[in-house]
Amino acid sequence: MITKCLFPVAGYGTRFLPATKAQPKEMLPIVTKPLIQYGVEEASDAGMRNIAFVTGRGKRAIEDHFDVTYELEDQISGTSKESQLDCIRELIDRCTFSYTRQTHMRGLGDAILTGETLIGNQPFGVILADDLCVGEPDSVMAQLLRVHEKYGCSVIAVEEVDPGDTDKYGIVSGQPLEDGLMRVEHMVEKPSPQEAPSNLAVIGRYILTPDIFDILRNTPAGKNGEVQLTDALHTQAKNGKVIACRFRGRRFDCGSVEGFVQATNFFFQRHQTAA
Ligand code: UTP
Repeated sequence: MITKCLFPVAGYGTRFLPATKAQPKEMLPIVTKPLIQYGVEEASDAGMRNIAFVTGRGKRAIEDHFDVTYELEDQISGTSKESQLDCIRELIDRCTFSYTRQTHMRGLGDAILTGETLIGNQPFGVILADDLCVGEPDSVMAQLLRVHEKYGCSVIAVEEVDPGDTDKYGIVSGQPLEDGLMRVEHMVEKPSPQEAPSNLAVIGRYILTPDIFDILRNTPAGKNGEVQLTDALHTQAKNGKVIACRFRGRRFDCGSVEGFVQATNFFFQRHQTAA
């Protein structure tokens, strides 16, 4: 049973400047909910109710979002607007939230190592909130969880990307295992299309076993001078301990303006249909 999910949210979100100059990109709304809330809902629905954030300077709005807002709630109490807070209130009741700060942006691997203090010695989920996922029939994290329960090792979500886009992702290759699953043998961070071992890209959903922390501690800075999670996962993969899952569903890259707009259109349609 995995109860903890780590959210690395320390990044600067430079692709959204100036919108992210004084607010976290994770708080940008997709229709009426901030991006981060979709990720926390996904974790909670998969049974991961202990939510751990690796934050940084300028990210305090995330803490405030997952807390009560007395004045506002008092103001709209008894009005038709009150129900608009139901989903976040339920989430706050269901989950616990803890925070630690990454002091220097040394990469995703370093952010995850910073989260060790909140996770301890147990397997855990990781969600990069800027990948907004709509799983079918259940969430991508729930799909990974089933694979982890069967194989007991780290599990990563992958999808095919345009071969010209491999330099935006961690790219994997390996041996087919069963329908939609692959035992990973090679992982490389942001390879050029010529160097890429495949066009299977890692997206922002992981289940990691806790030995990843020691591996990260011993992983030197890689691509772009950052400690890369991909390099640490490659070490696990060499021992046959990483499975890639081609998830069923759809991912929006909300770290890019184009993906953000696509997600907005998709959820706006849903919102209209539900209304
Ligand atoms: P990205 O590189 O995609 O996000 O990191 P970014 O740096 O926030 O955005 P841009 O590229 O400047 O627009 C992927 C994820 O890893 C986290 C980010 O917050 C994001 O969720 N991250 C990255 C950290 O927490 N710490 C880091 O040092 C680097």
